[in-house]
Amino acid sequence: MARPRRLRQSAWSRDLVAENRLHVSDLIWPIFVHDRDIAREPIRSLQGVDRLSITEAVKEAKEARDLGIKVLALFPHLDERLRTVDAKAAIDPNGLIPTVCRAIKSEVPDIGLLVDVALDPYTDHGHDGLLVDGKIVNDATVEMLIQQTLVQVEGGADIVAPSDMMDGRIGAIRNALEATGHHDTLIMSYAAKYASAFYGPYRDAIGVKALKGDKKTYQMDSANSDEAVREVAIDISEGADMVMVKPGLPYLDIVQRVSETFKVPTFVYQVSGEYAMIKAAVEKGFMDHDRAALETLLAFKRAGASGILTYFAKHVAQLLRN
Ligand code: PBG
Repeated sequence: MARPRRLRQSAWSRDLVAENRLHVSDLIWPIFVHDRDIAREPIRSLQGVDRLSITEAVKEAKEARDLGIKVLALFPHLDERLRTVDAKAAIDPNGLIPTVCRAIKSEVPDIGLLVDVALDPYTDHGHDGLLVDGKIVNDATVEMLIQQTLVQVEGGADIVAPSDMMDGRIGAIRNALEATGHHDTLIMSYAAKYASAFYGPYRDAIGVKALKGDKKTYQMDSANSDEAVREVAIDISEGADMVMVKPGLPYLDIVQRVSETFKVPTFVYQVSGEYAMIKAAVEKGFMDHDRAALETLLAFKRAGASGILTYFAKHVAQLLRN
């Protein structure tokens, strides 16, 4: 008689036949840095996540490296006065992110640094591109993204991750990198990025007060799946080394489809709202924190993800070590 329960009867037999496993090298840890004189500043909507000073970011980078985390993703929280209509702080060679990259690389050279390429932390309206007459203009934004990429790479970033969803930006950035001798810089494109309610806490984290309108003219419609395949195909053809699907859990079907279709390294971002949802449920006593975190991360592996950007990264790295 077929008794599938035979294999489930003990921990050792379950481990023996486990089809997927979560490993610390699957984890990319997003951190928020600020330019204020405060070591750590809690983020109200992201329990357990703080905005860090540069010194504190370097300390965390060391701890992450010692835990076996391979890559940090850096996000800036800028002073209000640096957010302008032309987003010029994004292309400042001595801006926050290039400075953080230099600080981390000088003390922790063996951790990978991933930087976001998009203008939302730097614009006064919170959109990812330049806003002209009520529209996000594509090609002028791409020119800014190129400059933003170069200042971040010159600061020491290893992976650039355009999250802006402008058309043609991967090709333009790849050409600019080649032309300036940065042949080895990796591009992880936010290729299938959906216009999502789940980014709410992130906007609080980077200090976007009131976004005017929504991002639906550049981020994808959650109704679509074929479109994700087209977006990924374009970004690979333009020179992306790795692609990303975002958000995570509500788009597991897209993670699976992209990884099966393209056989390129496919990453997934368990975004702020997914993290906040688990934290809130745990706070109410509705579920177990560690089991919920590990189960969601394993689901991404099962769907075919090569790795996961997650705010749980440091905690889970500690769990995996024990
Ligand atoms: C923006 C960007 C966003 C996130 C990463 N880069 C938000 C957005 O597009 O509005 C979201 C990350 C998260 O929610 O955890 N360029």
